[in-house]
Amino acid sequence: MSSGEKVASRYDKWSYFYDMVDNFPVISRPQQNWRMDSIEALDLEGDELVLDVGTGSGYMLPDIARRIDDGQVFGSDISDGMLYRAKRRAELEGVDDRVKTINDNIEDSRFPSAHFDKLLTTFTLTTVPDPMKAIKECHRILRDEGRMVVLDTGEPSNGLSKLFFYPMMLSAKVFGRTHMDRDIRGALKKHFDIVESSEYMCGMVYLLCCEKK
Ligand SMILES: C[S@@+](CC[C@H](N)C(=O)[O-])C[C@H]1O[C@@H](n2cnc3c(N)ncnc32)[C@H](O)[C@@H]1O
Repeated sequence: MSSGEKVASRYDKWSYFYDMVDNFPVISRPQQNWRMDSIEALDLEGDELVLDVGTGSGYMLPDIARRIDDGQVFGSDISDGMLYRAKRRAELEGVDDRVKTINDNIEDSRFPSAHFDKLLTTFTLTTVPDPMKAIKECHRILRDEGRMVVLDTGEPSNGLSKLFFYPMMLSAKVFGRTHMDRDIRGALKKHFDIVESSEYMCGMVYLLCCEKK
């Protein structure tokens, strides 16, 4: 099994309870706020072609779709189980005319070069097997004047925060094969300029707005 197939198979299994954990009352509230901040950061005008890379169960898709009356939003993922839920969510929320879901491995994307006006990726670059390949592909499929917004986790600089971060990071690595400590910022800088950034939870979560170099 390739590394991509392993990720797909893992998320296919998790797709049955992903939303339950992700939307757990009270503790999910900060996460929902960060996600809304990322949609704001896309700075949508209403007619864009947007891609949510690693859309998972498509939590962001309806909110993006409501802001682009004359545009279209794609949700791509490597897991069919997740995509099934993303598609159903768009249908239930009545925005399926502006939402398309597609199985696409972002390490070797099927989309043409310079295709999208805006890219969004939330908690995906710490799960893809090869983040450098994924970032290179994001750079390729984004238009030259486009914007990419990245919401993800990283190691905080503050010593006290590290005490909270390390146990979370280790359990995510062991049980979720998620690499919360990946230096995504550093990897992005090879292909993008980071033009805006915000931090949450003492720097354990960050939001970056990127433009192509
Ligand atoms: C932690 S989930 C995040 C989902 C969603 N963005 C969110 O914020 O809830 C990571 C997602 O990335 C997808 N993924 C992992 N590797 C991928 C790849 N190479 N190409 C496309 N999607 C991938 C997984 O299938 C999973 O749905």
